[in-house]
Amino acid sequence: MSEIQLSSKIESIKEKTNKYVLGTYNRFDIAFEYGVGELLFDVNGKQYIDFQSGISVTNLGHSEADIIDALREQADKLFHTSNLFYSSEQADLAEVLIVNSFPGKVFFCNSGTEANEGAIKIARRHAVSKGIKDPVVLTMKGSFHGRTTGAMSMTGQYKVREGFGDLLPGFDYIEENNITHLIEMFSKYKGRISAVITEPVLGEYGVLPLSDEFLIQLRKLTAENGALLVFDEIQTGIGRTGKLFCFQHFPFTPDVLTLAKALGSGFPIGAVIVGEKHTHLLQSGMHGSTFGGNHLACKIAFETLRVILTRDLISQVPSLSEFFFRRLRLIQNNFPNLITEIRGKGLHIGVVLSIPSREIVKECLQNGLILNSTNEKVVRIMPPINISIERIEEAMTIFETVLAGVNV
Ligand SMILES: Cc1ncc(COP(=O)(O)O)c(C=O)c1O
Repeated sequence: MSEIQLSSKIESIKEKTNKYVLGTYNRFDIAFEYGVGELLFDVNGKQYIDFQSGISVTNLGHSEADIIDALREQADKLFHTSNLFYSSEQADLAEVLIVNSFPGKVFFCNSGTEANEGAIKIARRHAVSKGIKDPVVLTMKGSFHGRTTGAMSMTGQYKVREGFGDLLPGFDYIEENNITHLIEMFSKYKGRISAVITEPVLGEYGVLPLSDEFLIQLRKLTAENGALLVFDEIQTGIGRTGKLFCFQHFPFTPDVLTLAKALGSGFPIGAVIVGEKHTHLLQSGMHGSTFGGNHLACKIAFETLRVILTRDLISQVPSLSEFFFRRLRLIQNNFPNLITEIRGKGLHIGVVLSIPSREIVKECLQNGLILNSTNEKVVRIMPPINISIERIEEAMTIFETVLAGVNV
């Protein structure tokens, strides 16, 4: 195809999208056609290294053969029935989730925001069961929990909440990693806190990890005050941080865990894991979802976990992470005015810049590397968890070259 035909291909996709799809996203002028492992190819055949992983979704890369086989096998048999019947795929997935997290039960839904809606309902039921009259759910100031009205209400980032009028009442926000403020909030709302819901690493806030001390104090205070501790592991779950679930880095378990994103390797699925002490809170008829836990989604999620666990992919994440951080620190040494901080956990990495990160991400795209810009000045890097050292090196060479072209 000629240059003109190629550029008209993306132009026509763009034109149709802008004409017919609501403009809720700020898109780059690229459309991808297929992917293999950590590589993506656009409609012009240009190759990219994908270190965004669909925002922590394709943790096994693209077109993983075993996932495709599982999808095909299940698609041949059955996509969907309803939750008015039993499903072996749903039961198998629930079992593997519980065996690998903590004793309890699972509710299945279709996305992260829905999983968090489930957590809000559990918090509300917990308040009712304890007789709390004016319950409060606390989350972090920089948190992001989703776009439905409940999840939006619990999201600390004001820019996500603004412009929609009054949201759900009964939420307040703790300054992340500020133990003094945490203690103040527990004293301010004494007797009224039904739950604290938090991501262990604030992904949309620029990959900001909560400190061990802060989280341990949070677990202590929630336990002492009879409040649920809910971990939103929608972004950090499924091997991303070097454990299957990020809470497994800490000497405690949460009461409730919400999951989505990488659980389905790109096929929509969400889950709420409820610890055994609290499974009574949602009884028959109190919550539900038509698509939640359907045969196809559960089969793919089960296969995702099977691949990760049987190939022991998570055990290599710490050494890959160490290499990555070391490489990034070398780059920081070369550009101390540009990179102010490198942070994260495992392969969930944030590079804080002194300038807006979108321009850098755009330039990396031009050079065949997909990264993500978040919280204005942070470049978020999330490669597949089965990435090779060679590919990290190749990607970081591109990143370094792009930074070298910036004048600060
Ligand atoms: C921590 C966290 N919670 C919830 C969500 C919302 O998930 P979804 O977009 O699947 O509704 C996201 C999405 O980025 C997230 O990062």
